[in-house]
Amino acid sequence: MSESPAFASALTAGGTVPADRDMLRFMTCGSVDDGKSTLIGRLLYDLGQVFDDQLAALEGDSLKHGTTGGNLDLALLVDGLQAEREQGITIDVAYRYFATPRRKFIVADTPGHEQYTRNMATGASVSDLAVILVDARKGVLTQTRRHSAIAHLLGVGHVVVAINKMDLVGYDQQRFESIRADYESFARHLGIKHWACIPVAAHAGDNIVSKSPNMSWYEGPTLLAYLETVDTSGSSESGGLMMPVQWVNRPNLDFRGFSGTIAAGAVKPQDRVVVLPSARASRVRSIHTEGGELPVASAGDAVTMVLEDEVDTSRGDVICAADDRPEVADQFAAHLIWLGDEPMLPGRPYLLKCAAQTVSASITALKHKVNVDTLEDQAGRQLTLNEIGLCNLATGRPIVFTPYERNRTLGSFILIDKISNQTVGAGMIRFGLRRAANVHWQAIDIDSTVRAKQKGQKPFCLWFTGLSGSGKSTIANALDRRLFALGHHAFILDGDNVRHGLNRDLGFTDADRVENIRRVAEVARLMVDAGLIAMVSFISPFRSERRMARELFKPDEFLEVFVDTPIEVCEARDAKGLYRRARAGQIKNFTGIDSDYEVPEAPEFRLDGGHGDIERMIDSLIESLQRRGLI
Ligand code: ADX
Repeated sequence: MSESPAFASALTAGGTVPADRDMLRFMTCGSVDDGKSTLIGRLLYDLGQVFDDQLAALEGDSLKHGTTGGNLDLALLVDGLQAEREQGITIDVAYRYFATPRRKFIVADTPGHEQYTRNMATGASVSDLAVILVDARKGVLTQTRRHSAIAHLLGVGHVVVAINKMDLVGYDQQRFESIRADYESFARHLGIKHWACIPVAAHAGDNIVSKSPNMSWYEGPTLLAYLETVDTSGSSESGGLMMPVQWVNRPNLDFRGFSGTIAAGAVKPQDRVVVLPSARASRVRSIHTEGGELPVASAGDAVTMVLEDEVDTSRGDVICAADDRPEVADQFAAHLIWLGDEPMLPGRPYLLKCAAQTVSASITALKHKVNVDTLEDQAGRQLTLNEIGLCNLATGRPIVFTPYERNRTLGSFILIDKISNQTVGAGMIRFGLRRAANVHWQAIDIDSTVRAKQKGQKPFCLWFTGLSGSGKSTIANALDRRLFALGHHAFILDGDNVRHGLNRDLGFTDADRVENIRRVAEVARLMVDAGLIAMVSFISPFRSERRMARELFKPDEFLEVFVDTPIEVCEARDAKGLYRRARAGQIKNFTGIDSDYEVPEAPEFRLDGGHGDIERMIDSLIESLQRRGLI
C-alpha cells in the first residue's frame, strides 16, 4: 500500500485526518542506509500483519533485489515503489496502516535523501510523532539534526530516536549512552520537549516488538510499546470550532448547507458561529452527514452545516466559534519551505492555497533564512530548492488563518506558480502582520472617472514589451507625439529613465527585474487613476510579471504591445553597444543572451519592430485604439 500524494493535498489535509485518540500518526525518517524500511517491515512482520502472498512475493524478491544475501529482506516489504527498488533507496512518501489491539497507526515513510525535503515536509505535516533513525555506528549526523529540525518546525511534537544496528556495535551500552547524550544536547538546543531514545536492531528484531535479550541493560519500552502508549494529545485540533467551507450544498430551494471537514473544535445545534471573513453571525440549526443528522460533530468529521440565518457564504469562507475566531488579514509572516526548481522571487505573484481559499499572493520580504541543521537564523536574499526562510507575505485579498501551531489546516498553505502550475512552496503561518490592518484605504472624492472626464479621455495602460533594441521606446515615443497632437494626456514610463530614479537600486537579476516591473506597474496604475494614458516601455521579460501588471487593471484598461523584433536585428542595431559588451561577457544577465525573454502568448498588439514603417504602425495603432473606443 503506497501512494505519493501531491504535497498540496497532504499538507492541507494536515489537520483533517480524524482526531482519533486511538490513532497515532507518525513518520519515519533517516539517512538512506539507516534501515528505515527494514524497521517498518520488521514491525509489520513481527505483528503478523504480512499476508501469506506478500510473504511469498517477499521471498522471491529478496533473492532478486535483496541486499541481505538471500535472507528475508524486510525493507522490500515496504519499498513498494518500483523506482525505490531499482535505486535501492526510498524516494517518495509511502503511507502504511496497521493496528494492534491498543492502537491504530498510520506511518508516513519519508525519504532520507537531502533533496527530498519536500517529501519529508509532506510526512511531517500529517504526523504527531517522528521516528528518526540513527545508525549506531555513525551516531548523530547532520541528517539527524536536519530531520529533527524540520519535524520540529512542522509542528511534530514528539520524537523517538531509534538507535539502530545495535547488533553491529556489539549491543554496547556505552555507545548507546553517548549517542543519547549527543542527541539530548541537540534536542535541548532546538527546544524539542518530548523525545526518547530506544536502542534497536531492526534487522534482527531487537526491541522492535519484543524486548531484546541482547540488551538487558536497557530498561525502557520497546519501540512498539512506546508507540502504543505515548500521549500526543493536545494536538492542533483542539480549541474553538473552525470549518473551512469546501462547497455550498444546495440540492433544492429549501436546503442550503455548508459542507467541509471540521478543522478544529466541536459543534452542536444552537451553537453561536460567525462566518469569516464577512464576520456575519448566526447559529447552527442542524448538522448532517451521509448517515443522517448529528447531535454533535468534531475535528476530522466531514459534515454539512445548516445555519439559522441566510448568511452569504461561499467556498473558502470559514465557519467558526463566535468567541474563538481565527485571524483575517492580508499580510502575515510564515516559514516557507521552497520547493521550486527556480529560486523564490520576492514580488512575483503566486497562487496561495490555504484550506479552501485560493488567492493571489506575493512574498514581500525574506526576513532571514533558517539553517535547517541548527534552526538558527541566517542572512539571505533568496530561497532555492529545499531552503527554508521566514518571509512576509501579502495576499490579494484578506484570508482567514491561524498560526500553524494553533491549527495545521488553517495555518499551512502552498504556493503555486501561476504559469507552470507547479507547487513551489509550502508555508507555515507564524503570525498576522498588524500593520496591514492599521493601514486603511483613504477615500478620495474626485475619483478616476471624474478626472478622466475632465481630460475628455478614457485612461488606460499600453504596455510595450520586447528585447532591448527592439524599438519599444521609439514606437512609444512616436505614439506619444500623435496622442499629444490629438489632445490626449499621456505619459511614457521608460525602463532606462525609471531606472535612473525610482528604480535606481535595482539591477538585472531575475529578482530585481520582478521588483522593477512590480513598481512600474503600480506607478502606471496610479497614472491611470489620475486619468492619464500610461505607456510603459520596459523589456518586462517574464510572463508572470506582465500578468501581474495586467491584473492591476480592469480588463479593457490594459493592452499589451509585443514589439517582436528578432534578436539578430536588435543585435545588429546595438544602438547602445550593450549587445557587444554582453557577448564579450562584460554585462551579465543580458536579456536574450544569458537571461530569458518569455514571448507573450496573447498580446493585444504584435508589432514587427524589424521592418515596419513607424508612421504606418502608429496609424494602425491609433485606428485600433479608436475601434476599441479608447480614444
Ligand atoms: S527589465 O527587464 O527589468 O524590464 P528595463 O526595461 O527596466 O529591463 O531596462 C532595460 C534597459 O536596461 C535596456 O534597454 C538596456 O539599455 C539596459 N540594460 C543594462 N543591462 C541590461 C541587461 N543585463 N539586460 C537588459 N537590459 C540591460
